[in-house]
Amino acid sequence: MTNVYLVGFMGAGKSGVGTVLAGRLGRIFVDLDVSVEARLGMTVREIFECCGEDGFRAAETAELERTTARRDLVVATGGGAFAREANRELIRSSGGVSVFLDTPWDVIRERLGSSDPERPKWSNGARDLFLARRGDYRRADIRLQLTGGERPAEVAEAICVRLAELPCAC
Ligand code: S3P
Repeated sequence: MTNVYLVGFMGAGKSGVGTVLAGRLGRIFVDLDVSVEARLGMTVREIFECCGEDGFRAAETAELERTTARRDLVVATGGGAFAREANRELIRSSGGVSVFLDTPWDVIRERLGSSDPERPKWSNGARDLFLARRGDYRRADIRLQLTGGERPAEVAEAICVRLAELPCAC
């Protein structure tokens, strides 16, 4: 078994799909942001406020590294995690499979609304960030092009089909 890492922009559906997928695969679900928050005893917003984005990214990478000690996880990463080469390398070198939930911009904007204090990177400039990160997300092993209208169970099913096509025993 190898860990499955869901990657993609904020609001792409990683946590919802990850929960269902973990149930289907009989694995443990990990939301990386929740793990970071639990370890530091602060919300993501508080971490950004106290330690800056660099502090958050360091904690995120440390938490990601912890997941690589196991092989039975479905991990929903934060939207910025897979945009960093060091994190991609951690996933790759540990044998993890990365899955890009490619949700359209309009759907994401609709889901997240005009502002979200718990998402410090969600702002007016988020569309530029969305476009800038696409190239990174596309490095994932699997890309699922979504309309945004799928139920999490349907996306999880599509991921299972794609995982079964891979040569590894995921
Ligand atoms: C971030 C996305 C968030 C969280 C943090 C930074 C980003 O996770 O990790 O606010 O840089 O895109 P979600 O993708 O779960 O919102």
